[in-house]
Amino acid sequence: MPPEIQCNNLERFNRSTNHLLPQAQGLLHVTVKPLTSANAPEGQLVLVQDMSFVERRSEETRRYLFYFFAGLAVVISLLTVVIAQLSWRGWVQGMRALMRGEGLLRRPDTSPKAPPELRPIARDLQKLVQELELEVRSRDESQISWTPDSLRAILHGELRGENVIVVSNREPYIHERRGEQIEVQRPASGLVTALEPIMRACSGTWIAHGGGSADREVVDAQDRVRVPPDKPSYNLRRIWLSAEEEAGYYYGFANEGLWPLCHNAHVRPTFRSADWKHYVAVNRKFAKAVVDEAGTPAPIVLIQDYHLALVPRMIREELPEATIITFWHIPWPNQESFSICPWREEILAGLLGSSILGFHTQTHCNNFVDTVDRLLEARVDRDAFTVSLGGELTAVHRYPISITWPPDPDLLEKPVSVCRAEVRQTNGLPKDHLLGIGVDRLDYTKGILERFHAVERLLELQPEWIGRFSFIQIAAPSRSKIDEYQSYEAQVRALAQAINERFTAGRQGVPAPILLKIEYHATESVYAHYRAADLCFVSSLHDGMNLVAKEFIAAHDDERGVLILSQFTGAASELAEALIVNPYDMDQCAAALHLALTMPESEQRDRMRLMRALVREFNIYRWAGRMLLDAAGMRRRRVLKRSESTRDEVSEG
Ligand code: G6P
Repeated sequence: MPPEIQCNNLERFNRSTNHLLPQAQGLLHVTVKPLTSANAPEGQLVLVQDMSFVERRSEETRRYLFYFFAGLAVVISLLTVVIAQLSWRGWVQGMRALMRGEGLLRRPDTSPKAPPELRPIARDLQKLVQELELEVRSRDESQISWTPDSLRAILHGELRGENVIVVSNREPYIHERRGEQIEVQRPASGLVTALEPIMRACSGTWIAHGGGSADREVVDAQDRVRVPPDKPSYNLRRIWLSAEEEAGYYYGFANEGLWPLCHNAHVRPTFRSADWKHYVAVNRKFAKAVVDEAGTPAPIVLIQDYHLALVPRMIREELPEATIITFWHIPWPNQESFSICPWREEILAGLLGSSILGFHTQTHCNNFVDTVDRLLEARVDRDAFTVSLGGELTAVHRYPISITWPPDPDLLEKPVSVCRAEVRQTNGLPKDHLLGIGVDRLDYTKGILERFHAVERLLELQPEWIGRFSFIQIAAPSRSKIDEYQSYEAQVRALAQAINERFTAGRQGVPAPILLKIEYHATESVYAHYRAADLCFVSSLHDGMNLVAKEFIAAHDDERGVLILSQFTGAASELAEALIVNPYDMDQCAAALHLALTMPESEQRDRMRLMRALVREFNIYRWAGRMLLDAAGMRRRRVLKRSESTRDEVSEG
C-alpha cells in the first residue's frame, strides 16, 4: 500500500501512483511506482519532481498579458483622442449651424456641411427648432401691440435704424394739374392703402412711377418730393417713363400678361416680346434708383408686386448685402398656368434675388414653390419653405396683408346716422331704404358683373325687395387704355342699365336697384358709403387679399352691417364670420343678399365683433413688422455665418 501522503486541498491524493506534495518553495510532484519481481513486491520507485517552474511560468504569462492589455488600452485611447479631435470641429460646426437654423434652411440630407453622423437627427432637430421658433414667434407677436411705434422700435432696435426703401409701380400721391391748380390724388390701390401707413411710420424713401400730369412740377433736382403733403414724413422719389415704356412695361407685360396670368378670371394673357424688353428695361431703371437711394451697402428694400419681378435680382447683383423683401400682392397660379409665360424662368430667377418673398396665402406660397421646383434647377426645402438658387437663399412665407388699425379718426368722425342720411339723400333714396355697397377698381377680376347678376336674381326670387333695396357700386376707372378694360366697362354699364330698366319700368318713383358710380372717390367719401351701407358685397373672381372687406369692417364701429365675401379672396380664409359665397353661383349669392338684409341686429353685432377683433389684431403694422422681424433674423444669421467662416479661415490658415 502506498503511504498516505497529505497534499494541498486542491490536489487529490491518488491511490495509484501520482501525488503532489506541497513544499515551502512550491509544489513537488511525487510518483510512486511499486517494483515487483516474480510476483513478489521488491520495493517502490519514488520519483520526486520540482513543479515550482509551473507557477513561475504562469506568473510570467499573467504579467505579459497585463502589459499587453495595458499597452493596447493606451494605443486605443490615443487613437480615440485623435479621431475625436478630427471630427469634433465638424460636429460642432454642424451642430452650431443646425442650432442657428442654418441647417433648417437647406435639406439636411444634402447639406454639404452637415456631417453624415448628424444627418439622421437633423430632421428631428429641425422640426423641434421650427416648433420652438413658431411658439416663440406667436408668443412674441401676441405680446406686441402692433402700432406705428412698435414698427419704429423694430426698425431702430432689430434693424439698427437701417434705411428703408419701398419700391412699387404705383405712387402713393399723384399730383394732377387742373387748370391753374395742382391737386393731390390718392390712387385706388390696395397696395398703396396698405403701404402708406408703414412709410409714415418708418420714414425712408418710396420709389414709384411718377404718372401724374403735374408730378414733374413738384419734385426737386433729385426727382424727390416730401409727402404726405399735409404732414411730410418720407421722400417720394419718382421714376419717369416714356409713353412707349409705360405701354410696354405697365399696360403690356404687367397688365395684359402677368395680371390675367395670375388671376383665374378667364381672360387670356397676352405676351409680346416688345413688352418684355420694356419690362426688363424699366425694372432696371427701378433697380438703379434703389442703388442710388440706398446710401448704405445693406439697405432694407421692400419691393412690391408683379410690375417689378426682376428688380430683386438686379439689386442683389449691385448690393449683395441688401435685405430684400418682395411682396407679391396678387395670387400666384399653379405651375401649369404659370408655365404659359414665355419668360417664366427669368421671372422666377428675378424674384429669387429676394431674401424674403411674401404672399397672402399658403396656397400661393405652395404654388410658387411648386413652380420653382418644376421650372428651375434650384434646391427647394418644403419643410422650411426656402428656395436656394445659386447658393442664395430665399424664404417664401405667408404674410396676410391688412389695413391700419385703429382707422384714421377723421374717417369715422361723421356719425353713422349722419352718413346713412346723407348718402340716401344724395341718391334720392327714402330714409329707410336698405343699401348695399361695392367698392372696386373697374377690373374684370372683381366680379362686378356677377355681383349685379346676383342682385337681379335676388329681385327675381324675392320681389319684396324691389324698391326697398339698392346696391351702390363705386368703380374707380382703371387701366382704361387696355381693350379688355374698356369692354369690361361697357359691359358693366350695360348690365346695370338693363337691370335697372327691368325692375323700374312701369313702376313710378321706384328707386333703381343698381347705382353705378364710375368715378374716383376720395377715401373720406368711400368710408362715408361704407358707414351708410347695410351690407358690403365683395364678389372677386380671384383676389390676393381684398382690403375692401377689411375696410368695411373697420368703418363699422357701430358693429352693424353684413359682409358678403367671395370664397376666392385671400380675406375669406381670415374672415370666417362673413357670409362666404361662390360668386359664380348666382342663386347662392342672391340667398346671401336676402340673409344679410334680414339678419337680426344681434347676429350682425356678434359677427362684426369677431371680425373687428381679427382686423384689430392682425393690422398692417403687424404685417410689416413680421416681415421686418424675419428679415432681422436673416441678417443676424448672415452676420454669424460670416464671422464663423472668417474664424474658420483664420484657424485653418
Ligand atoms: C392691384 C395691384 C397693385 C395696383 C392696384 C391698382 O391691387 O396689386 O399693384 O397698384 O391693383 O392698380 P393700378 O394698375 O392702378 O396701379
